[in-house]
Amino acid sequence: MHIHRTIAEIRQFVGQCRAAGQTVGLVPTMGYFHEGHLTLMREAKQKCDVVVVTLYVNPLQFGPKEDLAQYPRDFERDCTMARDVGVDAIFTPLDQEMYPQGFSTFVEVTGLTDILCGQSRPGHFRGVTTVVTKLFNIVAPDQAFFGQKDAQQALVIQRMVRDLNMNLEVVILPTVREHDGLAMSSRNVYLTEEQRRDALVLYRSLCAFRAAVQQGERDAGKLRGMMTDMITTVPGAQPDYVEILAVPDLQPLETLQGGIIAALAVRFGKTRLIDNVIMEV
Ligand code: PAJ
Repeated sequence: MHIHRTIAEIRQFVGQCRAAGQTVGLVPTMGYFHEGHLTLMREAKQKCDVVVVTLYVNPLQFGPKEDLAQYPRDFERDCTMARDVGVDAIFTPLDQEMYPQGFSTFVEVTGLTDILCGQSRPGHFRGVTTVVTKLFNIVAPDQAFFGQKDAQQALVIQRMVRDLNMNLEVVILPTVREHDGLAMSSRNVYLTEEQRRDALVLYRSLCAFRAAVQQGERDAGKLRGMMTDMITTVPGAQPDYVEILAVPDLQPLETLQGGIIAALAVRFGKTRLIDNVIMEV
């Protein structure tokens, strides 16, 4: 597995693969890999001849009071895990490579980014779409792989690719969960034992939502109230948002119809976790 730190090096590597007629899959990440990341890499390996993983903790998508400095990192472990699933190259640039002095160009998807995580984390999606555009331009993949765990991010990237005619296919894969249902996240390591137990309320409330919808409930207000009640009965859980919206436009709805997402963000102490389910009714 090749490890590249400069744009020139990764471009040369990808250029050689392309010249040999190989297709290229890209998996953008911020590292500290878990089974969610590895599933994206395995799927990329299935679909493309060559898989490039980018490992970059992008400062542009963190707010001033967020966990950029504490974000978990373990480069050696990440390399071993990526190599074991057959990744061909890792691109892991330094900040000055990505954002040299005088950097002043940003990519912004409007509307879709005003709600949910965009409301709680101003500027976050502008940071994501800017770095993802740069990674697309650097690697020029045929396909790029993202997880439904970050459903709003996936929808925003799909919209950006469509609106700006980016020449690649975005592939979205289902959320990978721990055995008890907690969505895997690099941030789960922040949780204390008690918070880890409390955090199960995200999945529990999403399962209750799905069951209620399957039994015929269509009133978004009632469903939202039910999930909020479940979350607030856990003393350590502070809901940031509990929303039911139409997909892919993330428009509010009163009565469930068509494609819908139930999306949650909940704080446990300083740790903020997100989860969602998408259904067709
Ligand atoms: P990161 O949080 O490292 O996630 C990298 C990719 O893994 C994202 O597409 C995310 O949705 C996916 N992922 C994370 N947990 C998952 C799970 N439990 N199941 C399935 N997929 C999962 O998301 C980012 O990094 C960054 O915002 C990035 C896109 C790299 C831009 O900096």
